[in-house]
Amino acid sequence: MKPSPISARPEDAFAKDVRAGLTAQPKSLPPKYFYDTLGSQLFEAICALPEYYLTRSETEILQRHAPEIVAHFPDPLSLVELGSGSAVKTRYLLDALLAKQKSLLYQPIDISESILRQSARQLSLDYPQLLVRGQVGDYTKGLGQIERQHNEALLVLFLGSNIGNYNPDEARQLLTALRQSLRPGDALLLGADLKKSAEVLTAAYDDALGVTAAFNLNLLNRINREFEADFDLKHFAHRAHYNADDGRVEMHLVSQKAQRVFLRRLNLSINFDAGETIHTENSWKFDLAQLQMLATETGFAVRQTWFDQAAFFSCNLWQVASS
Ligand SMILES: C[S@@+](CC[C@H](N)C(=O)[O-])C[C@H]1O[C@@H](n2cnc3c(N)ncnc32)[C@H](O)[C@@H]1O
Repeated sequence: MKPSPISARPEDAFAKDVRAGLTAQPKSLPPKYFYDTLGSQLFEAICALPEYYLTRSETEILQRHAPEIVAHFPDPLSLVELGSGSAVKTRYLLDALLAKQKSLLYQPIDISESILRQSARQLSLDYPQLLVRGQVGDYTKGLGQIERQHNEALLVLFLGSNIGNYNPDEARQLLTALRQSLRPGDALLLGADLKKSAEVLTAAYDDALGVTAAFNLNLLNRINREFEADFDLKHFAHRAHYNADDGRVEMHLVSQKAQRVFLRRLNLSINFDAGETIHTENSWKFDLAQLQMLATETGFAVRQTWFDQAAFFSCNLWQVASS
């Protein structure tokens, strides 16, 4: 695994974001910090929950349509994946591509070193024809050291509703920057979650077992560990609700009483009122018109969209548009 060229000292960025987020009104923290070692494991557990339809729906699409997706490209093709996580669903695309070409360069980028190392090791064992070049880093800072072996086209995977964590302006910026680092013949496969009933959406982020609550609260554990802070997790509660006006599920950590928290390494005291929240994640939901507009605004042309049978989720193949 290469040391990351794009986030050489991620702890500095974390410290800066924690200070800014906890001193802002209202308080917030970026969701990318959920993914320490335990956070990545909790996310894998979330993917197995009955309420978390997103992973099952996207798996259904890739399982059924991976050969059709890769048939859009001449051989050879290389894969880049943003926020690859365990890359379990990626295997359907690897299988489809390796049925067409002898070898394959796969370049995952993930902020979580533990899950990236684990998935890279497992993929290399399971696919001898695969060359895995992982980068630990923040993909919002750029693609880093993406390579082309034989001047081949790139297919960039951005799966798992990752795009939903960005507000519309941020999503446009991120996709525009991505488009600028690609060239004609390259494409993006975007997994985007679709609007649906508030009941189904809320349950997906507030499961009966409390795994998503643990995932959310673990962010405070991480801050306690990395900044010698004294968040008492018993005095914060997980809350998820669908904000239908904005079309997003919001996750918050709600202070159960008036309290003060001290982050020793940042020399920072934070006061919480009873009921005050830290907004920890948005998960924006899309309709097809919004996805079409997002593609057009960021320099892509929609090539094809696939759905699961329930039409809960979409995988969107966007080609770099000719400028
Ligand atoms: C919602 S999970 C999705 C994982 C996998 N793609 C899937 O579909 O199951 C988000 C993944 O993206 C990574 N991630 C989140 N924000 C990131 C960022 N800004 N830069 C790099 N990786 C990020 C997390 O570590 C995690 O592995």
